Amino acid sequence: MSGAGRHMNAGSAGDLAGDLAGGPVIELAGLRKVFRQVLAPEARPGLLARLFRRESQPGDQPGDKPGDKSGGQAPAFSAPAAGASPHGASAQDVAGNGEGGVEVLSGIDLTIRQGEFVALQGTSGSGKSTLLHLLGLLDSPTSGTYRLLGRDVSHLPDDELSALRNTVLGFVFQSFYLVPYATALENVMLPGMYSELSQGELRSRALELLGKVGLADRVNFKPANLSGGQQQRVAMARALLNRPKVILADEPTGQLDSATSAEIMRLFAQVNASGTTIVLVTHDENVAAQAGRIIKIADGRLVSDEVPGTRVGTQAGTQTGTPPAGA
Ligand SMILES: Nc1ncnc2c1ncn2[C@@H]1O[C@H](COP(=O)(O)OP(=O)(O)O)[C@@H](O)[C@H]1O
Ligand SMILES: [Mg+2]
Repeated sequence: MSGAGRHMNAGSAGDLAGDLAGGPVIELAGLRKVFRQVLAPEARPGLLARLFRRESQPGDQPGDKPGDKSGGQAPAFSAPAAGASPHGASAQDVAGNGEGGVEVLSGIDLTIRQGEFVALQGTSGSGKSTLLHLLGLLDSPTSGTYRLLGRDVSHLPDDELSALRNTVLGFVFQSFYLVPYATALENVMLPGMYSELSQGELRSRALELLGKVGLADRVNFKPANLSGGQQQRVAMARALLNRPKVILADEPTGQLDSATSAEIMRLFAQVNASGTTIVLVTHDENVAAQAGRIIKIADGRLVSDEVPGTRVGTQAGTQTGTPPAGA
């Protein structure tokens, strides 16, 4: 069913996420991404602002010019490093291929099923984050299709994307992206604006999640007073608030030492064991070895897709993910 253009609120996004257990969650066909402008990383739109963005901007297009999206409506907080000027001096127009841009993803075909734990690996600049941002509806493809839970989401309006992003998906990033002046509890409750739960129910759920990630005694701490591992636990609890079908994680252990990294990977394994699909970008072989499936990307193309033959023991006690169907 193509749902493009159909109105959908957060409630129906929740319904959409139901009763598709075991089926394909993510289906990409010929997905391409061409950046029309080269933006310096600091000039790209801030992730935190995009993640919990609520409404469309007047004149906003579901197109792929990220620089157009960083201004406008103020979120309920100020995002750290939330993109500089959308048309700043660091934006350079590029003329390269026939579309006048740089092709970063060159036709990705990929199906990920419910319950899989997929690691995405590739060298720096190979297109991992770009692919994850497309999966996360933080950016839209130049061409090709993306079906999320059976629905074509390649070109939906921003408000529908925001609702899906915050109900069906959860995000964890290398640099945590917590709101600096909010407590751990407030950070976890942030996606609650898309929930149908009352404030009281949200608070209880956030407290329960903070307990599950081992931070029951840190709920009123601000990020600056938490260690990197603790901040990532807060980010994981936040990602889980709305009971997402899929967790998207971009180098979530990239800033952590190996012991802390192992703890965070244990949490991912637990989340996966409860049926949540995980797509995790990593450089680290030990981290990737814990996934049930390893996909490699090079120059914007998938170059390998395999189930690790042996689950190489990494840190003692580390669990492995649920193997993909048929493994
Ligand atoms: N918003 C953007 N505008 C222009 N170019 C971008 C943008 N985001 C990423 N790129 C470019 O796309 C390529 C792939 O980047 P990325 O997906 O971040 O790679 P990875 O995560 O694998 O290191 C890089 O050359 C990067 O500079
Ligand atoms: Mg990256």
